[in-house]
Amino acid sequence: RGTADLAGLRILLSAGGTREPLDPVRFLGNRSSGKQGVALAEAALSRGATVTLVTAHLEVPVPGGAEIHPVETAEQLRTEMNALLGGADIVIMAAAVADYRPREVAEGKIKKDATGDVLTLELVKNPDILAELAANRAPGQVVVGFAAETAGSREELLELGRTKAARKRADYLVVNRVGWTEGFATDGNTVVVLDGAGHIVIEATGSKLSVAHSILNVLAEAGRSNHQ
Ligand code: C5P
Repeated sequence: RGTADLAGLRILLSAGGTREPLDPVRFLGNRSSGKQGVALAEAALSRGATVTLVTAHLEVPVPGGAEIHPVETAEQLRTEMNALLGGADIVIMAAAVADYRPREVAEGKIKKDATGDVLTLELVKNPDILAELAANRAPGQVVVGFAAETAGSREELLELGRTKAARKRADYLVVNRVGWTEGFATDGNTVVVLDGAGHIVIEATGSKLSVAHSILNVLAEAGRSNHQ
């Protein structure tokens, strides 16, 4: 692609997996590699967009040319995204955010001698950042979420996606199937993009970079029509 069809568009993007500390040396994390989010950033940059990338834990290097804001926890990601929201035309929450965090973070390393054979952790729910951003957005800002599901059938996957799109009030939801061998650390991806009403806008399969371009084709239209 040699076009700069996203020139002038400001994209705020989160990528990677959050980590919730248990003590100074341990955390609860997830298998997100950040590859799809980073591919989105690369694709957007190559098409002339301005990209602000809020990075939780990534297994891949950050793209050159993006403004990078590193974070660790869901709470930090939330603070950063809310602070940056005002300067964005399009907001994409590609990060895998921990649904729960430990209620207490131990000041010192948790010792097995002190805790015995069974250790019970108490977890509290993290705020839903995507839903919050969608609720706080200014008119014209486009908000996009991801839904990684382990659903068996395609219909089940789409139904989960529709419910989630409605609950989060995002303009678009990118739904993909994940499991032990697909989705997270892989180089390819298959996604269905739903609009806020749960209707299929596009489906795309291919490398994470080509899927990123397909997603951006949808957003280019939406962002542009709101921009003018
Ligand atoms: O509800 P679920 O975690 O499946 O939703 C996934 C989407 O919501 C992703 O876009 C993710 O970045 C976002 N999310 C969030 N805050 C959370 C959990 C998920 O913004 N606490």
